[in-house]
Order: sequence, then C-alpha cells, then structure tokens
Amino acid sequence: MDQASGLRNIVKTDSLSRVSPSVLAGSSRRVPRVISVTSGKGGVGKTNMVGNLAIALNALGKRVVIVDADVGLANIDIIFNLRPKYNISHLINGERTLHEVMVTTKHGVHIIAGGSGFANLTQLTHGEKLNLLTEFETLENMADIILLDTGAGISSNVLYFNSAADECIVIATREPTSITDAYALMKVMSQEYGTKYFKLLVNVVDSKKDAKSVYATLDNAIGRFLKNVVLEYLGNIPSDPKLQKAVLHRSTVMDYAPDSPSAMAIKEIARKIADSPIRASSDGNIKFFMKRILDAVN
Ligand SMILES: Nc1ncnc2c1ncn2[C@@H]1O[C@H](COP(=O)(O)OP(=O)(O)O)[C@@H](O)[C@H]1O
Ligand SMILES: [Mg+2]
Repeated sequence: MDQASGLRNIVKTDSLSRVSPSVLAGSSRRVPRVISVTSGKGGVGKTNMVGNLAIALNALGKRVVIVDADVGLANIDIIFNLRPKYNISHLINGERTLHEVMVTTKHGVHIIAGGSGFANLTQLTHGEKLNLLTEFETLENMADIILLDTGAGISSNVLYFNSAADECIVIATREPTSITDAYALMKVMSQEYGTKYFKLLVNVVDSKKDAKSVYATLDNAIGRFLKNVVLEYLGNIPSDPKLQKAVLHRSTVMDYAPDSPSAMAIKEIARKIADSPIRASSDGNIKFFMKRILDAVN
C-alpha cells in the first residue's frame, strides 16, 4: 500500500483531523520547510520578497516551490512573467494534478498559482480536501523550501496559511499603519493559533537604523502585551528604484539588477534563512502544511 492510498483509507474511515502525523510526514522522508511571508498591511513587498528570495535560495542549492496563497491579489506570476494555465481550483476539483498546475521559472523555481481556488477552503467537500492532501503530498520529495505568498491582513485565509507554516516572516515598512497592522496580525496569530515566534523583515528603508527602530517599536509592544511571543529581526531591504523598475519590466530585481542594493540585501537574507535551523512557530508537530491548513479550517 503506497502512502497516498494509505492516507485515502484513513481519511475514508476517520476524520481528517485525526490522521496520524507520521502517516503524513513519513518517518524516513524529508519534509519541506514551509515559510509564510505575510503582512498586516498590503503593498509592503511580500510578493517581491517571495519571488526574489526564491531565486536567491535556489542559487544556494535549495529546491523551492512558491505557493501563491493571496486570494485577492494573486500576482507572483507577474514578476516571473509567466501565465499559469491552471491553479489550485483545478487541483481541488480533481481536473489536474499538482504537476500539471505547477509552472517552473527559468531558474528552476516552481510556482503553484492559488488565486480564487483558495477562497473557500472552509466549504471544501471531503473529496476535495482529499484531492488537495494527496496532491500536495507529492511536493514532499521535490521541495526543500515552500514559500507561501499570503494576502495581507487578518482574514481567515491568511491566518490558516500562517498557522500551517513552520515559520512566519512578517513584512513591515516604516509606515505607522504597516507597523500597527503587523502587530495586529501577530496578536491574532498568537491568540487564535498559539503562534509564538515570528521573524521581522523591514522593507523600503533608507538605513539599518530606521529598520531597527521599526523592530524596536514592535518588539516593545510584544514585550508588553504578548508575553509569550518572540520576534526575531531577520533583516531589512533598502528602498530601491531598481526593484520598482524590475516590477515594471515584469521581472524580479534579482534578474533585472542583481547587483542593486535590494538584490544584495535579499541574497543576504536568503543566506540567513538557509543557515538557520527550523524553528516551529506553533506547538503542532504535524509536519505537512496542507494537512495543517485543513485542520485549521475545520
Ligand atoms: N525595497 C523596495 N524598494 C522600492 N519599492 C519597493 C520595495 N519593495 C516593494 N516595493 C514597491 O511596492 C510594490 C508592491 O510590492 P508587492 O511585492 O507587490 O507587495 P505585496 O505583495 O505586499 O502587496 C512593488 O511593486 C514596488 O513598487
Ligand atoms: Mg502580493
């Protein structure tokens, strides 16, 4: 009995939330590290960070799969100038396999377009959930890192994806609204999902000092009001006209201007991520993220 059929049988006879973690993770299999890139406020650079980090991690020898989990403004394909034919909804209804849905960039980064397919996770039938679970299982052997490009804000979809990830990178800028919204997101994640650990990436700054002051503001608030939460400073990305130009050219700054300040900063952050051990952001020990998403939905 292969793993997928084992899973199918278990799901048939039991509730999804009681599938044993070892069945899903596989005792001898390597499990991809799932990193969500999220924010309170929109337009702070999530999609650009995901796309560029993916290229930088790929260059470090990591096999990367991007899942575009932004239901409202799914657009990771734009900066790679790709037009995926299929998305998650084709996978959910069983029309296509994960490999058919996936598109691959010239760097070798794989992208799974989510879009509206993720909009109604709570309304999936048992069979549709099973389609998702069994198809996503095939990712286990082909990815070292799965990057989730989430939507902004505290909608339930954003929270599901963040809670399912092993690590949660929160992006904020110097704008006060972006800082308060980042705090609100971490507060909800910690209160509703027990997430205790976040990494902060400060984007669009003029100096490291500015980035550190954003970190200090958030870290102080967390220290006072969210006692169990730890916020780590991951790094900062400078404000860079080259990145904006890259977007206008439907490109990533890593391709368009690899020596630009933002591309250099992204490479450094990729190295930091690649070198850091996995640190689970929540208590759950179930390794595979689609299972965790479906658990969160239930
Ligand atoms: N480091 C940066 N320097 C300059 N502009 C940036 C930077 N990061 C993001 N931007 C600008 O912000 C816009 C929105 O970025 P995007 O990655 O689409 O944000 P999100 O996915 O969070 O909505 C980009 O198109 C770009 O013009
Ligand atoms: Mg985006």
